[in-house]
Amino acid sequence: MAAKKRPSKLAPATVTAVNPPKSSINNPQPKSDDSSPIAPAKVSLIFKISLIFLIPYFYLIFYHYKIESELRRSILINAVISLIGFFGTVTMIPVASKYMLRRGLFGLDINKKGTPQGSIKVPESLGLIVGGVFLVVAILFQTFNFTADSNWLVEYNAALSSICFMMLLGFVDDVLDVPWRVKLLLPSIAALPLLMAYAGHTTIIIPKPLVSYVGLEILDLGRIYKLYMWLLAIFCTNSINIHAGINGLEVGQTVVIAAAILIHNIMQIGASADPEYKQAHAFSIYLVQPMLATSLGLLSFNWYPSSVFVGDTFTYFAGMTMAVAGILGHFSETLLIFFLPQVLNFLLSLPQLAGIIPCPRHRLPKFDPQTGLLTGTNDGTLVNFFLRQLGRMSEQSLCVVLLVFQAICCCFCFLLRWLLTGWYK
Ligand code: UD1
Ligand code: MG
Repeated sequence: MAAKKRPSKLAPATVTAVNPPKSSINNPQPKSDDSSPIAPAKVSLIFKISLIFLIPYFYLIFYHYKIESELRRSILINAVISLIGFFGTVTMIPVASKYMLRRGLFGLDINKKGTPQGSIKVPESLGLIVGGVFLVVAILFQTFNFTADSNWLVEYNAALSSICFMMLLGFVDDVLDVPWRVKLLLPSIAALPLLMAYAGHTTIIIPKPLVSYVGLEILDLGRIYKLYMWLLAIFCTNSINIHAGINGLEVGQTVVIAAAILIHNIMQIGASADPEYKQAHAFSIYLVQPMLATSLGLLSFNWYPSSVFVGDTFTYFAGMTMAVAGILGHFSETLLIFFLPQVLNFLLSLPQLAGIIPCPRHRLPKFDPQTGLLTGTNDGTLVNFFLRQLGRMSEQSLCVVLLVFQAICCCFCFLLRWLLTGWYK
């Protein structure tokens, strides 16, 4: 059966489905021949970048805090299976890429349009491998941590259902290219298993300075709390998806936020004496560690110049996993500060998303094939905002700048928490 080619989404005018572009014939870069292998993973680069996070993380676990040996054992077992998941992802992506290309699931790199690299078919939706490996790791981990009657088991499996459902809808979106106003709603369906199974508290602690005005220290929000959880899941998933379009940005932002979540979880576990509070943060670690490890595997192929694209399968999967970790770990307000660049991007996007001003299919910068530099356009995105403020720059530099900004926002969150301790709660 002839492979189906993707429709207009992928700039069909530049896709030569039958005859590969001539420029790729003697090109050392990955060729557009459907059976050709993709460029090798940049594993050593990813390993070096990972050390920036791994050193402080393991320092906190082993030396800084006195964490109970049983909890530490569970975290380490999860880390080891996650590491296996990393290698599984790196091994499977080249294999899956061939299948994606064969079935016509590829995209063209818009920020290289007009250069030989711009006409290469880049396999799409490799988030499918990340999500698949993540689910296997997360499911197998239950053997090491939960007993059959554990209360956590219900919520843990509901969390996995929501993540799996989100992945499925992301893949459907990649294949069918759902109109983007409809895709904004997809996470609201995927969040349902989690909302239905949620049996945790629905209370919020009133900040100390407001207690005298409200007259309460703890406020039970009941169903409104579930509505908040639902909106958080919709926001996290879409906000990762629309802060995108630059090689390495989708996975890069996920990696930075995931690293910040893990450090936050360990700091909370280390500083608390409440077993339930510790369990909530450990729960988040059990989900975020495998997500971080598998995402790093994907980043080794998606870093500039991308040899694979992540697809909405990945952006939705990553957003939902972090939302679920924040909800069940009860640190959603911290999560929202980690998501500050995404919040800013969302606010900048609002006029276009609301249809007040026209929204093109791709809200990306303008690429100049002569200089290889990007120029900011008037589309309301953080990517364009940074380019307009800092001037023209290469795609790779822009990605690094945006990821450093993401990391600065995470550090700002830690500083804010430290400054407000004792005053706020
Ligand atoms: C969202 C954004 C859209 C942005 C797109 C880029 C909104 C409402 N939608 O749409 O503005 O252009 O993400 O991911 O803000 N691509 C590249 N280089 C990359 C990554 C992607 O050129 O590094 C292109 C490829 O052609 C790829 C396509 O983007 O095929 C993927 O787009 P998709 O994820 O389907 O876009 P949306 O999520 O609908
Ligand atoms: Mg997308």
